[in-house]
Amino acid sequence: MAYVSAGEVGQLADGTMKEVMANDHEILLARVGDSLYAVDSRCPHMGGKLTEGRLEGTIITCPRHGSRFDLADGSVVRWLQGSGLLSRIGTTLKSPRPLKTYNVKVEGGEILVEV
Ligand code: FES
Repeated sequence: MAYVSAGEVGQLADGTMKEVMANDHEILLARVGDSLYAVDSRCPHMGGKLTEGRLEGTIITCPRHGSRFDLADGSVVRWLQGSGLLSRIGTTLKSPRPLKTYNVKVEGGEILVEV
């Protein structure tokens, strides 16, 4: 594993996210306050593109079926949206899995992600 450049920190505003490619990994990079977070950009449920989801604080909501994850540690906040039969079936077929997280740091204004 090595740190790979993911752009300038000054170009990522507070409360925003973007997708970057680093060593063939699609990574969601987000800034919340002074903190940066790097996670897989694909949802562990069925590959929804999380950069098209909704970011609220450190919580990202998948645009496909509404699963929610905390960018701080990748933990599942909610697995699938709703509590109906389809959600229960979906959870049975695919059990909750956390988002993969990556170490991230800033050096000289440059964001570096460890992949
Ligand atoms: S693909 Fe993300 S919740 Fe289904």
